[in-house]
Amino acid sequence: MAENTYVLSIDQGTTSTRAMIFDHSGSVVAVDQVEHEQIFPRAGWVEHNALEIWTNTRDVVGGALAKANFNSRNIAAVGITNQRETAVVWDRSNGRPIHHAIVWQDTRTQKIVDALAGEEGLDRYKETVGLPLATYFAGPKIRWILDNVDGAQERAEAGELLCGTMDTWVLWNLTGGAENDGVHVTDVTNASRTLLMDLQTLQWDESIAADMGIPLSMLPQIRSSSEVYGECKPGILNGTPVAGILGDQQAATFGQACLAKGEAKNTYGTGNFMLLNTGTEAVPSQNGLLTTVCYKIGDEPTVYALEGSIAVTGSLVQWVRDNLGLISSAPEIEDLAKEVDDNGGAYFVPAFSGLFAPHWRPDARGALVGLTRYVNRHHIARAVLESTAFQTREVLDAMNADSGVPLTELRVDGGMVVNETLMQFQADILGVDVVRPKVAETTALGAAYAAGLAVGYWENEDDIRTNWGEDKRWTAQMGEDERERFYRSWKKAVTKTLDWVD
Ligand code: G3P
Repeated sequence: MAENTYVLSIDQGTTSTRAMIFDHSGSVVAVDQVEHEQIFPRAGWVEHNALEIWTNTRDVVGGALAKANFNSRNIAAVGITNQRETAVVWDRSNGRPIHHAIVWQDTRTQKIVDALAGEEGLDRYKETVGLPLATYFAGPKIRWILDNVDGAQERAEAGELLCGTMDTWVLWNLTGGAENDGVHVTDVTNASRTLLMDLQTLQWDESIAADMGIPLSMLPQIRSSSEVYGECKPGILNGTPVAGILGDQQAATFGQACLAKGEAKNTYGTGNFMLLNTGTEAVPSQNGLLTTVCYKIGDEPTVYALEGSIAVTGSLVQWVRDNLGLISSAPEIEDLAKEVDDNGGAYFVPAFSGLFAPHWRPDARGALVGLTRYVNRHHIARAVLESTAFQTREVLDAMNADSGVPLTELRVDGGMVVNETLMQFQADILGVDVVRPKVAETTALGAAYAAGLAVGYWENEDDIRTNWGEDKRWTAQMGEDERERFYRSWKKAVTKTLDWVD
C-alpha cells in the first residue's frame, strides 16, 4: 500500500448518489452526496434520469476529492455499489439513454411478467436464477423499454443499443463512455437480480434471454465482484482502476463482515433488505426468499445468500413527510412516535409496490387499519416506524424456516438505524439482539473493500473482520406474549391489503 492512498467508493442509490473516501482502517475520510429527481409518470411507475445520475456521479466524486484535498494519485482504486434492478438502455454511439431508467420499485411490467409466467407459473425460472418472476427485477424492465420505444428492438438486434443496471451505466461512463470505448461489464451480484443469470454458471441464460426477447449483444459481460475492470478516463480520476462492483445490499453484507455462513445483516434504506450468507451453496427458498449471489472475490468460490427484500420502509417516512406533510424532516418521525408508548391499535402496511418478501403479492396496496377516535398523529407515527420492524420480523421468520438455524443476532445498518425507538422495537419484535456497527456506512465500505482487495490495498478478508466493531446493541425487553399479540395483529392487517388490484 502506497503512502497516503485511500479507496473511493461510489454509491449510486435510489434517492441519491454518494462518493465516499475510506482509509485503511475502514473509516470515512470524506463524503459528498447529491439527490436526484424521482419521476412518477403514473401510479406505480418510478423513473430516474440516467444522465442526471451520471452528472451527479461526476460531481460527488469531485466534491469528495475536494473536501479531502486529494487528487487521483491519492486513490488506489474505485469501487461501485448501486441500487439494484433499476435498468437503463442506451445508444452505444452517443451514450444517450433511449428512455428514463426504470426503477426497481416500478410495477409497470406486471403484464410482461404474467405473460412470461404463462401456464408454468411465477416460479418458472426459479431453479436457474433463484428468483420468482416479479416486476421488481431488471429483465422485464428492459423488455418494456424495447417494446415501448420506437425501433428499439430492431436497433438492439443490430447491436446499436447497450443495457445494464446502474453499476454498468456508471462503469461504462467512468471508463470512457461512447467516446473512449467504455467498459461494458456488470458483476455477478447485480446480474443475479435480472432474472437472466444462471446462478451456477454465472452466465446469461440464453433461453431465458430468448424468452424475454433480449439480444445477448446488448447485455454486459458478467465478471466477479472484485477485479480490475478498467481505468477511469478521462477526467479527475484519470488512470485510477475501477476494481470492485457489488449491488448495494451485497455490498452492505460485505461491509458488515458477514463473511461466514450463517451471518446476516439487515439494511434500513428506502426499503429493507436482509441477507443471510449461505456460504458456497445456493440454497433454494421454500418460504418466499430470494436466492442470490452474495459476492465473488476474483477467482475465489462464489458465495451465495438468501435475501428477504421489503420494498417500502424508509420511503414510507419520506411519503409521510412529502405526501402527508405530517413531519417536515425524516428524523421528526421519531420525536412524534416517542410521545406515545404504543400504536394505539393502528397498523400501517405500506404495500405501495405490492408486497415483496415473503408474500410476493403485486396485487396488494397500502392500508392503515385499526383506527378509532383514540388514534392521533403520534400513534400513526409509531405505526409508520413499527411497520418496518414487523416487515423485518416476517422476513426473519422466513429465514429461520429456510435455514433451519435460528439467527441469534442481527447486524443492522442504513439511514434508519439512528432511530433508537425503532431499533428497540425491532429487538422487541424479533426477540433477538440488534447490533449496530461503528461504521454505519457499510454499503459504500463494502464496495471499497471489494475494490481495495483487488489491488492489494487490503490483503484479505481478515482485514475486513478486524475493521468491524460494535457500536450499540439492543436487547429485547418485551415479553413473549405481548410480542406475539402485536405480531398477530400485524398479520391480520396484512390480509387487508391483498387482492386490491385486479
Ligand atoms: O433492490 C433494491 C435495492 O438495491 C435498493 O436499495 O438502498 O437504494 O434503497 P436502496
